[in-house]
This record gives sequence, C-alpha cells and structure tokens, in this order.
Amino acid sequence: MNRKDFLSLSTKAALFFGFSLNLLAKEETIEKTNFLLNKKAKGTAFGLKAPKIDNVRVGIIGLGNRGQTLIQMFDWLIKNNNATIIAVADLRKEKTDKLNEYLEKKHNTSAKAYYGNQNEWKKLANRDDIDLLIIATPWEMHTEMCLYGMEKGKHVASEIPIGYTLDDCWKLVETAERTEKHCMMMENCCFNGEELWILNMINQGVFGDLTHAEGAYIHDLRKHLLDKTYYENQWRIKHHLKKDGNFYTTHGLGPISQYMDIGRGDTFDNIVSMSSREKSLSDAAKKPTCQNFKI
Ligand SMILES: NC(=O)c1ccc[n+]([C@@H]2O[C@H](COP(=O)([O-])OP(=O)(O)OC[C@H]3O[C@@H](n4cnc5c(N)ncnc54)[C@H](O)[C@@H]3O)[C@@H](O)[C@H]2O)c1
Repeated sequence: MNRKDFLSLSTKAALFFGFSLNLLAKEETIEKTNFLLNKKAKGTAFGLKAPKIDNVRVGIIGLGNRGQTLIQMFDWLIKNNNATIIAVADLRKEKTDKLNEYLEKKHNTSAKAYYGNQNEWKKLANRDDIDLLIIATPWEMHTEMCLYGMEKGKHVASEIPIGYTLDDCWKLVETAERTEKHCMMMENCCFNGEELWILNMINQGVFGDLTHAEGAYIHDLRKHLLDKTYYENQWRIKHHLKKDGNFYTTHGLGPISQYMDIGRGDTFDNIVSMSSREKSLSDAAKKPTCQNFKI
C-alpha cells in the first residue's frame, strides 16, 4: 500500500465509521492530507525515477564540519567521472577556499565559489549547469534550501534533519512530487556497513518476523556545543536554549524504519518522544573551564 492509498483509506475509513477526524489526527494534518489527496499530483515520490545522469553535476551549500567531510565521499565518484563539483557556497570565503584546496590537491580541479552573505547560495542554486544540490548548513535552513533547489530544477539531498515542522515535511513531499525531483534526507546511518549488514540479514529471514526493535543515538556533544568556534556562530546550542527533547531522532530511527519497512509498505501509527530533564549540558556550561558560552 503506498502512502496516498494509506492516507486515502484511513480518511475514508474514519468517515465510514463516523469517527471524529479530530480524534484520529490533528485538524491541520487532515487538511494537508485532503489537500494532497485532492491535488492529484502526478505521482508519489515513492518509486520516483528520474532520467539517469552519467556524470552528476553537483553544488554543495554549507562547508563546515560536515561539508568538508562530505566532499571526501565524492572522491571515488569524481575519479571515475560519475560526479563533478561545479560550485560550492558558504558564508565564509575561508571555507570555500579550503574546499577548493582539497579539490585542487586531490583532483586537480576547482569549483566556482559563492560566499559572503546569507543569500549567496541562491546564485548557486539558480545555475543551470547543476543537477544535484547537497545541503550541509544549520538545521533551520534545510527545508528552504531544498524547496528552492527543487523549484529551480535540481535534485536535492540534505543533511539531517531535512524538515523542522510537520508543515515543512508536507511542503517537501508536495514539491518533490510536483517537480518530480529527488529529495533525499541524507540519513547516513541507514547506509553504514553495520546497518546494511543487519538489513541484509533481516531480508534473508535470519531473525524471522521482526516484532521489536530498539535504537539510539548516543553522542556526547557538550564539548563541541559549548565551544565558541566549532559550529558557525554557535548555531547548534541555540536550539537547546529554546527546547529540550530528542533533536537527532533519525540516526536511531532511520535504520530501524528500514528494518520494519516503514514507508515501504508499513507506517508508523504513533510517534512519541520522551526525554529526561536537561541537566548535564547546563552543568557543563557552568563549569569554570567553560569560558566560551554562558547560558
Ligand atoms: N549525518 C551526520 O553524521 C552528520 C555529522 C555532522 C553534521 N551533520 C549535519 O550537518 C549539518 C551541518 O553541521 P556542521 O557540524 O557541519 O555545522 P557547521 O556550523 O560546521 O557548518 C555549517 C556551515 O554552513 C554555513 N552556512 C550557514 N548559513 C549559510 C548560508 N546561508 N549559506 C551558505 N552557507 C551557510 C556556515 O558558514 C558553516 O560553514 C547539520 O545539519 C548537522 O546536523 C550530520
């Protein structure tokens, strides 16, 4: 059952049984669901196939910790003429310079650099010689950059999390379906050797029918979060100032979703996030050794 069939069936079932739709889901979700169902989009993004591109022309936005690592993952593709880095964008020239130094040293090539202000990346996304946008900027920018990229005819792949609100998620789905562009959240944990190894065993029936799974992402980031220079303008800890919770769900949930066929025939009925009270980050920030950041 694909997503639209599922949504359609559950909406119709709710009407048939006379349930109040508000009991089943938030009004906002229902509105969006109906919007999608009535819209008759050309197709769903599931199973979307775009014409093959032998040498993918790439633009990368965001060249911080992640962007400078992601480029190494292109080495093999660049060497084998499967990808070309056409252009890169960041707020800071030193970061575009650093990336170009890498490209020059490793591949004897360089990319057009955009830098200097918050909107310079749009010039990169507007280019007509780019097939794929890779986005590795702070979280709050991902949705906007993906939507803009798809509207400009690019496939897009964003670092996690690709969306910040339910509304963001619907916009991404709807735009991918309308533009028929690939829109991928690069949840790398789904594709690590270990996770794929387990997936392969599951697919071969080694564990029988899966009825339960547990996953997590346990990473003590306090040192980086409290460091003045590690993240650009300390963007990441600012999220912790506003709310508590699990900000990085998909490292754990992504591989499990693959194991359980979520989005591939099955679906989540409910998702609940529970956290303990935030304490250790605040405690670390109060330590005299932590000179950089005051909460
Ligand atoms: N999947 C993983 O394993 C993994 C690992 C590390 C980081 N990440 C993700 O990568 C993303 C970036 O994290 P990071 O650690 O590299 O942060 P960072 O602060 O080191 O890098 C972000 C970069 O984006 C640039 N930037 C900000 N606004 C911009 C704009 N308007 N236009 C162009 N560039 C802009 C900044 O100058 C900075 O260089 C986050 O979503 C993070 O969660 C994922």
